[in-house]
Amino acid sequence: MLYLKLFEYSAGAFIFLKAGKDFKILILKRDNGEYDIPKGHIEKGESSEQAAVREIREETGIIAALVPYFHADTHYFFKKGSNTVSKHVRFFISIAQGSNVKISDEHVGYEWLNLDDFKKKVKFKDILDIIPEVLDYYERYLRMRSLNEMYELLPDKNREWDLSRTMVPGEGPLNAEIMLIGQAPGRFEDEQRRPFIGRSGKLLDEMIKSAHLKRKELYITSTVQFFPPKNRIPTNEEIAICKEFLLQQINIIKPKFIILLGNIALGAVLGMKSVHMHHGSEITKDGINYMITLHPAAALRFKQSKEIMQQDFSKFGKDITAKH
Ligand code: URA
Repeated sequence: MLYLKLFEYSAGAFIFLKAGKDFKILILKRDNGEYDIPKGHIEKGESSEQAAVREIREETGIIAALVPYFHADTHYFFKKGSNTVSKHVRFFISIAQGSNVKISDEHVGYEWLNLDDFKKKVKFKDILDIIPEVLDYYERYLRMRSLNEMYELLPDKNREWDLSRTMVPGEGPLNAEIMLIGQAPGRFEDEQRRPFIGRSGKLLDEMIKSAHLKRKELYITSTVQFFPPKNRIPTNEEIAICKEFLLQQINIIKPKFIILLGNIALGAVLGMKSVHMHHGSEITKDGINYMITLHPAAALRFKQSKEIMQQDFSKFGKDITAKH
């Protein structure tokens, strides 16, 4: 008898609805009585994100935005006739704006359930297994969102505010193991509202690559997350105000490693002076490995600084891999 091993790839999402301090998750009921969350096959030419957004729209009528950087993969086998199918599913998170749902012909009903009821009704082991990971990320996302909403209000609350009025939030997975902290965004970052995308950012990308790290796996931000006019150095007072937010961001991400880029980050986070004296060193404090090096703007100006930074990054890359 001909035996075939088949592969199937699907994408889906946990759709959360905020309910006060709590939340509900959307489930869909099939005509065989099974409960599932929105998911379906990834079509040819589609990314898993595109497939999840399309499936959500088709199966629930919700136009969803996915929570950036998160996915959880599951895998299982099932029988299709005499064949075994190896099934891979990538799950995302989305947060609904309201409880309206318009199901398709594929389902016979839907419910928004609290966590306990969700765990009772959904029987698929692969979905149940990833719940802790999904909830952990959802909670970090909400905490970071409300923290950054408060941070963004600083210019309106502070009469003397002399930095740009729009914040440049950090970028990367909220459960990243490695965090990079610079000084403050430049003009380009301010315009695009993304950290380290100008000339310093390009050099930083080179360093990251040379250390065998991947930018999309790192959380990248600055000590002061508002652009200082004319690229001036932030004042001690500005650093003190912004540092409170940075420390809370660190607390949400809880990275294992933090690479401090330059004097401002070194002073704000570890209370230490002179990056030139301490570059290349690693300090463990409160369970975090801090790694000290120069700011890429210095490395853009001086060849020797670039060489120092390169050496530091290659050392950090090796040490991170060894401690992983
Ligand atoms: N320098 C920083 O410290 N942060 C940025 O985002 C860009 C340049």
